[in-house]
Amino acid sequence: MAQLQILKYPDPFLKTTASEVGIIDAEVLSLIDNMVETMRKGKGIGLAAVQVGVAKRVIVLDVPDERPDDESGEEAPPYVRGKNLVALINPEIIAAYGSTKFEEGCLSIPGITADVERAEEVTVRALDRNAETIEISTGGLFAIALQHEIDHLDGKLFIDRLSRLKREFIKRRIMRAIEAEDKAL
Ligand code: CO
Repeated sequence: MAQLQILKYPDPFLKTTASEVGIIDAEVLSLIDNMVETMRKGKGIGLAAVQVGVAKRVIVLDVPDERPDDESGEEAPPYVRGKNLVALINPEIIAAYGSTKFEEGCLSIPGITADVERAEEVTVRALDRNAETIEISTGGLFAIALQHEIDHLDGKLFIDRLSRLKREFIKRRIMRAIEAEDKAL
């Protein structure tokens, strides 16, 4: 396994629309393994192939179990990295319900988070690494992460889902940070 370089905004490749995977060959399987490694090292909960410069419809996710409601008195399940690991090929949202807001971040836009509105529940159809068709119906953070990663395959970042005003504000902030970095000694 190898760690891949994660492209950072404003890299133009992040606007790429990825192509469907035809055959799940050794190259695709090794891409998945390398993406899992890269996501783990980056401490992310999801990663799309476009973020590592590959225009293929492949995403990996490892979304932690969510805390039960505070009133329930239950303890939060321990966060075990890799426990909920999934790799999806040609993922497609086939149903979406409701709407929710969540403060999202992205490995391609380090240090920036913003509230993004998305569907509350989704059903995603995809192929797994054995070329079996799977369907995932879920809500919560997993549903948000699925929508975020599938957006990457269509060249869309979470900041593209914000109002124009907010997006321009965030873009200016990022560009200022990049300029400051360039001048740093
Ligand atoms: Co992202």
